Amino acid sequence: MNNVHLINHPLVQHKLTLMRRKDASTSTFRTLLNELSSLMAYEVTRDMPLQDVEVQTPLETMTGKMIDGKKLVFVSILRAGNGILEGMLSVVPGARVGHVGLYRDPATLQPVEYYFKMPQEMEERDIVIVDPMLATGNSAIAAVDRLKKLKPKSIKFVCLLTCPEGIAALQKAHPDVAIYTAAIDRELNSHGYILPGLGDAGDRIFGTK
Ligand code: URA
Repeated sequence: MNNVHLINHPLVQHKLTLMRRKDASTSTFRTLLNELSSLMAYEVTRDMPLQDVEVQTPLETMTGKMIDGKKLVFVSILRAGNGILEGMLSVVPGARVGHVGLYRDPATLQPVEYYFKMPQEMEERDIVIVDPMLATGNSAIAAVDRLKKLKPKSIKFVCLLTCPEGIAALQKAHPDVAIYTAAIDRELNSHGYILPGLGDAGDRIFGTK
């Protein structure tokens, strides 16, 4: 699949399987999500541009490499996206963070925006949108539609799990947005849940069910 990066590192796959278990506690689920998110951060930042920087070691001066350009922005789709932020920020502590609040209308499954807050100078930044589940794709598409109006340098989308329907929808609307995921599950059910999936990610992260 074009522009889809399946992160099949053994540590990622192992942790994801533990998270899927229905008897995983809230704290176990959250811990695993943190660990998994930092591993996914390595993959999504793999092609970040570097610049040469002079550095004085205790012994001599050398030319080292540092990340070039304005700070990356992680954009969390509320609320489940927040579960991914901590792990990502542990690897990229200087990143900026934006939030998009979208809820799914239970009848239409269409996203409704209730919050949008981004850092300054978005036109000079690379964006990584985070949301654990790319299911119908409706929220992801709405978030990308909105973010593209700010003319960022690039947009990537990171999730834990997706399904063929979610990938097809996001790619149809935004073929330029690369998708990073730890798994592509079998299908979407009629309630907009991924099968076999891991249930409602927000409820599992925050213990609300
Ligand atoms: N959102 C979730 O939390 N889980 C799904 O399976 C689909 C969307």
